[in-house]
Amino acid sequence: MSEKAFVMIKPDGVERGLVGDILSRFEKKGLRLIKAELKRISKETAEEHYGHLKAKPFFGELVDYITSGPVFAMIVEGEAAVRNARSLIGPTNPAEAAPGTIRGDYGTGVERNVIHGSDSPENASQEIERFFN
Ligand code: TYD
Repeated sequence: MSEKAFVMIKPDGVERGLVGDILSRFEKKGLRLIKAELKRISKETAEEHYGHLKAKPFFGELVDYITSGPVFAMIVEGEAAVRNARSLIGPTNPAEAAPGTIRGDYGTGVERNVIHGSDSPENASQEIERFFN
């Protein structure tokens, strides 16, 4: 079933010039780009987005990092978009991500893992609302 996923290239990915390569991987997988914006996100948006991690010791650094420069936020659409996007992205920790996945190829550590992708269709809808209202 066709669905939408929210994907966001984080400031390290934008800074390192990886937007074109990453976008191309989604397109080649058959996930169509339907909306995209390069923008800096507010502290409030970042805290809401990572609300499930508020109690973690790394929360403050995570918010600082995600707001440290522009992100490339996008909506992609296609068959099982959420699961397909997650499989292109790879697991949270790049050290555990296989080569060929985005995090496996480019991530330098769990705090600099290049990209975010929604983990469920429900979260995808919420994140699309949050980042593109
Ligand atoms: P999480 O929602 O658990 O993973 P994912 O991004 O794969 O859905 O974590 C959100 C982000 O928090 C993660 O992409 C990177 C950061 N993070 C850390 O900085 N340190 C950590 O130990 C963990 C688990 C996550």
